[in-house]
Amino acid sequence: MVKIRSLSKLTGCEIYAKLELSNPGGSAKDRTALAIIRKFEKEGKLVPGRGDVVFEGTSGSTGISFAMLCNALGYTAHICVQSDTSAEKIALLESYGADVEKVKPASIVDPEQYVNAARAGAEQLASDKTTEANGVFADQFENDVNWRIHYETTGPEIWEQMNHDLDYFISGSGTGGTIAGIARYLKDQDPNVTIVLADPQGSGMFNRVKHGVMYDSVEKEGTRRRHQVDTIVEGIGLNRVTHNFLEGEECIDDSERVTDEQAIKMARFLSSNEGLFVGASSSINAVAATRTALKAKKGSKIVIIGCDSGARHLSKFWKEAVKVDRRVTLEEVLGTSVLQRKPVN
Ligand SMILES: Cc1ncc(COP(=O)(O)O)c(C=O)c1O
Repeated sequence: MVKIRSLSKLTGCEIYAKLELSNPGGSAKDRTALAIIRKFEKEGKLVPGRGDVVFEGTSGSTGISFAMLCNALGYTAHICVQSDTSAEKIALLESYGADVEKVKPASIVDPEQYVNAARAGAEQLASDKTTEANGVFADQFENDVNWRIHYETTGPEIWEQMNHDLDYFISGSGTGGTIAGIARYLKDQDPNVTIVLADPQGSGMFNRVKHGVMYDSVEKEGTRRRHQVDTIVEGIGLNRVTHNFLEGEECIDDSERVTDEQAIKMARFLSSNEGLFVGASSSINAVAATRTALKAKKGSKIVIIGCDSGARHLSKFWKEAVKVDRRVTLEEVLGTSVLQRKPVN
């Protein structure tokens, strides 16, 4: 847990980041991947050295965690990714020894969509009578183990590291596991902790939290683009409800929508002012935290998740962020002329 001094000073609140990017596999997904593997082992579905394969469909981070852990624990990771996933993520997966299957971007109802491709691969290996090797589908979006591991580990760590004293917790949602598990744990400790979902442009989750409807204007007839969620940000934002998100939804109090432009500028701001080199979803969280701080009581304590490093995003997100002036101000990040505190209470 580190204090983001620049944002804290400029907003009058204390803003902290839980640096999940410091995990061995570089993101919060190490926790989820290990918990899923351990559950399959307990059920006898994964046995080291038998040739067993873990299949997962992922835009990156979870695949990297599975690749790292499978190598260490005697399995193979078979990772299905969209063909437009950033080049360095694919290279990293292959370097860790994962089998990478690239599939074209498609809707979740399409059998060739990357999550469905992973499920089909696992089913095929599991039913293959010519080998004793088993295949399992990790299913991070729907797997109940995902939010629970954050309830059991990340939530308690944040609570302890903040000395049982925080006012806001802010995170984006991909599978929903991180926000659901942490939000439930924190609310169990102190119902007054406010949970804020940070959402990228093009995602329907902001409207789901604010108005109960999963919708974004890019879905209007004639305006819908090729990708389901139209943002440069990888890993968060969705236009469907997952089991893991549902498990924590009632704990989410508010949402902040963040544009790609704001996220890109914030990444540069954090790198220049803090030496914090973060990826897109962490940057979205930092923008949401700044906006929340400007509305909050002075001195409020705010925690965000630092999901992964900027090194994972060099070819897409940081290609844009590097073009931003290093002296970018917080006003310029937020797109306002002055930084004004407008506490709601
Ligand atoms: C970089 C990054 N940040 C945040 C998330 C969101 O975490 P969760 O899936 O627990 O909602 C992901 C998910 O893949 C991710 O890859």
